[in-house]
Amino acid sequence: GCSLAVFTSGGDAQGMNPAVRAIVRMGIYLGCTVYFIHEGYQGLVDGGHSIRQATWASVSGISEDGGTIIGSARCKDFRERPGRLRAAKNLIEHGINNIVCIGGDGSLTGANLFREEWSSLLKELVETNQVKQEDAETYSYLNIVGLVGSIDNDFCGTDMTIGADSALHRIMEAIDCIATTATSHQRCFILEVMGRHCGYLALVTALGSDADWVFMPEAPPEPGWEDQLCNKLKNTRETGQRLNIIVLAEGAIDCEHRPIKSDDVRELISKRLKYDTRITILGHVQRGGCPSAFDRLLGTRMGAEAVLALMEATPTSKPVVIALSGNQTVRVPLMRCVEKTLAVAQAMQAKRFKEAQELRGRSF
Ligand code: F6P
Repeated sequence: GCSLAVFTSGGDAQGMNPAVRAIVRMGIYLGCTVYFIHEGYQGLVDGGHSIRQATWASVSGISEDGGTIIGSARCKDFRERPGRLRAAKNLIEHGINNIVCIGGDGSLTGANLFREEWSSLLKELVETNQVKQEDAETYSYLNIVGLVGSIDNDFCGTDMTIGADSALHRIMEAIDCIATTATSHQRCFILEVMGRHCGYLALVTALGSDADWVFMPEAPPEPGWEDQLCNKLKNTRETGQRLNIIVLAEGAIDCEHRPIKSDDVRELISKRLKYDTRITILGHVQRGGCPSAFDRLLGTRMGAEAVLALMEATPTSKPVVIALSGNQTVRVPLMRCVEKTLAVAQAMQAKRFKEAQELRGRSF
């Protein structure tokens, strides 16, 4: 049978473990030798003890755990060619030319570049006597399949990234808690959520929590929003509402790309309306805790599909990402997703916010 390896890269996300479990078990079930690469790309570069064989039992009872049991890291070495040379050598030493990368867009872009560079890396390794010619021929191509693990839901091509649903559960629990104390004291709360440059978590949180206002990068508020916001809050209080919830994405900006900060919003409200206004920054709480049922299933389905995609790959097939489309697990070209995700960033930069929303796709 063949050998395949799995690693998790970038920020962790709930649901990565169920994905790892499905990859290991589907791989073993199909007769493959499966390896863990610990600590993401760093483990690939370091080799040695970072690359270890997985067993059926090594993934028992991990579905309910948040994070990733094989560790994750942001890696500088892999960005340089010497690091990628070491990574290629380590893979060949283990007889691995099938890998599943679970990560965000940066990690998946890196995987794609590595694949494109593979033959030139092998050539250099043979020329410098680090790899035998026959091994280079046996492993002449590299198959890569990507799974999108990120709480941000910021990847074009899939309706949901692994982890976003669990993060929403964490956020909802937190808002429910805040609402009871806010009501008691007639306070206004600004709840800052993660998402990097993506407003998905903020938007869905606002919809699901009956919030009064949301700040998100893809829909910056019109000039004069300060008056609108204060009027809105005043109106809600006049109709008897005892609290206000404002959801603010960590990447929120105004139309001129100036960041909108929780502190500034608080100052505005407490000065103009004299409301007792507090800030809660949820931070990494959102990335922790056990995966939701949805993320466990999503990770499991995607992990199994990733192995099938690897087994069906040919030397000429393009790398794919396993994505969710509606309720279906589908394979989409990795490069198209990466390009589309880049197009979102460019549209945002050029202040074409409507276009950015549309490019983000169905989740908006
Ligand atoms: O991409 C996931 C994420 O949690 C973002 O929402 C956030 O901006 C970032 O990672 C935080 O990164 P770190 O954990 O490295 O501080």
